[in-house]
Amino acid sequence: MKTPPLPQLVVALDVDSSAKLNTELDRLPVELQWFKIGLEVFCAEGPAILEPLHARKSSIFLDLKLHDIPRTVERAVRSASTHRVNLLTIHASGGRAMIQAAANAAKEMAENGPKIIAVTALTSLQQSDLSDMGVARSMQDHVRALAHLAMDAGADGVVCSPLEAALLRADLGPDALLITPGIRAAGEAKGDQKRTLTAAEAVRAGATHLVVGRPILEAANPTESAARLLEEIRVAHGARA
Ligand code: C5P
Repeated sequence: MKTPPLPQLVVALDVDSSAKLNTELDRLPVELQWFKIGLEVFCAEGPAILEPLHARKSSIFLDLKLHDIPRTVERAVRSASTHRVNLLTIHASGGRAMIQAAANAAKEMAENGPKIIAVTALTSLQQSDLSDMGVARSMQDHVRALAHLAMDAGADGVVCSPLEAALLRADLGPDALLITPGIRAAGEAKGDQKRTLTAAEAVRAGATHLVVGRPILEAANPTESAARLLEEIRVAHGARA
């Protein structure tokens, strides 16, 4: 079996302005390649927020979680592609036609098209929320069903809890991108993250991109914290090869 590529550490730049984003970038090691831009700062600053990342030649995960009629999502993916981003999120619950529209739009943009990543169930949802929506199956079955739907409809991967990564890796095969937030060191403050694993455990479970925000941005020394995570990922990956 071929060795999977080195999983990437993606720093979630969860800030509300470009001034704060630039401050954070200055505090982080230059070898960090991947950054996540979310709705908060994208709505505040627009696509110009991506410029400092392009200047650094960074890889960009634009986490917009698109969910609309297929025609609108298709056009939004085309618009996002003009901003040169590498990963773009949509909601799998938008349905097969919407996922296909997003995937086709990204492929049409050839090398400018982002990989399309589907969100299955938001980590803020619990079983009672599924019941409220009329979904009777378990959270795990729901996540698996939506992950299969997304990949079948042409998505390149899914966002999942690191605790679901091993199951989804086995389900979806070796090529699916698995993006996992919810990474914490043993004993570290979890904040509002409920279902966490360490970076090494997420790598062993088959994650391809580990999204980490507060454990780096709120660390006393963000450079040290990021460097420690990069090393943990390298070692865990090396042990699998
Ligand atoms: O918790 P941390 O700051 O590392 O969060 C990194 C990313 O994880 C956030 O940008 C958000 O997308 C995601 N997140 C999540 N569930 C939470 C909190 C954050 O999936 N409860």
